[in-house]
Amino acid sequence: MARHDEPDPATWWERYGHRLHGEPTRSGERETTVVDDGSVRTAHPQRQGGEWFSDAGPAVGAEPAGRGPTHLRAFDPDSLVRARGPVPDRGWRRILHAASLGRIDPGPSAAQLAAQDRLARVRSHLAGTHRVAVTSLKGGVGKTTVTACLGLALAEHRGDRILALDANPDAGTLADRLTGHSDRTVRDLLDDLAAVDSWTAVSRYTSLAGRLQVLASEQDPAAGEAFTRDEYLRIDAALARYFSVMLTDSGTGMVHSAMAGTLDVADSLVVVGAPTVDGAGRASKTLDWLVAHGHGRLVADAVVVLVGRAAREIDAPALREHFAGRCRAVVEVPHDPHLATGGRIDPGRLRPATREAFLELAASVAEAFPAHVRR
Ligand SMILES: Nc1ncnc2c1ncn2[C@@H]1O[C@H](COP(=O)(O)OP(=O)(O)OP(=O)(O)O)[C@@H](O)[C@H]1O
Ligand SMILES: [Mg+2]
Repeated sequence: MARHDEPDPATWWERYGHRLHGEPTRSGERETTVVDDGSVRTAHPQRQGGEWFSDAGPAVGAEPAGRGPTHLRAFDPDSLVRARGPVPDRGWRRILHAASLGRIDPGPSAAQLAAQDRLARVRSHLAGTHRVAVTSLKGGVGKTTVTACLGLALAEHRGDRILALDANPDAGTLADRLTGHSDRTVRDLLDDLAAVDSWTAVSRYTSLAGRLQVLASEQDPAAGEAFTRDEYLRIDAALARYFSVMLTDSGTGMVHSAMAGTLDVADSLVVVGAPTVDGAGRASKTLDWLVAHGHGRLVADAVVVLVGRAAREIDAPALREHFAGRCRAVVEVPHDPHLATGGRIDPGRLRPATREAFLELAASVAEAFPAHVRR
């Protein structure tokens, strides 16, 4: 949900209050009034020797840097740009900024700063390949939808290659929800794996939703060939050479064969539940099962996603607290009429609150990406 909290006046003033001081001059310079020994004078920061040109340059009142080698050493390219920070992008701040042609700049709101911070977290640096398993003991709780929307959010805002892989043992719906193309599947890729030795070859087996690459699961439930642990690991090893982030949408339950492979190599976990007694209970049991089977580290670092609106009888804060105590983060995704259709997901048709929730999920997942390759 879009929040319109007013910023904390103390910190806002510290960060942006200076914008309201003084009048901009015709050249765009802001004049600062300096009181010195009882006298008042007007200072032009740009003209005060090193103040604009170096962090280490002399302070106001110190010897000016002057010309020559000292001045060149103090050169700071950033200081040449008259950047004034982010322009307000919403509400009265934006109107005031636009109406005054930028002469009055109240600075960004707390909501705008929070959105910028979230995007920076989504874009966290990642070294190597990071595998995220999306899982739950309960069926129909929203795993595929969460995988799809998390993948779309990461792919939209990151520059690296992101893959959403459907490891459902029976006719998964990930590709249907994202691209509608499921004619080439993980089974075809397995059959041809020896010949897949380039990005071009890999992309013959995937389809694109925005910048997200999607690999469909076997679509014929009667095919009889289960997606085994060994097959998952072979696919994983082949694809990890080409993708930075690999999201795996797993089938319902924890004991099918591909799930064992998924958990073997997963770097992090997204556990999907619902804010209902049974939905949360199954999510909690999923965590118990994972701890009991040696995945305690994944559980402690997991992000729990609660999909849908909590009924009034449910103590939602207590629910959040329960999962927050067991895992790294809890993200609530609201009910969204576009997602409820079960059809192809068009991110442009999601409600702003839903988009924001998936961005928050992407930020929570990405902020744990290792910035250095693990040895
Ligand atoms: N936030 C949401 N708002 C409304 N409907 C949703 C939301 N998330 C998921 N749904 C709907 O709930 C249904 C089940 O979701 P989904 O297929 O993602 O669950 P799943 O856990 O992958 O199921 P399965 O166990 O069968 O693989 C779908 O019709 C989906 O569109
Ligand atoms: Mg599913």
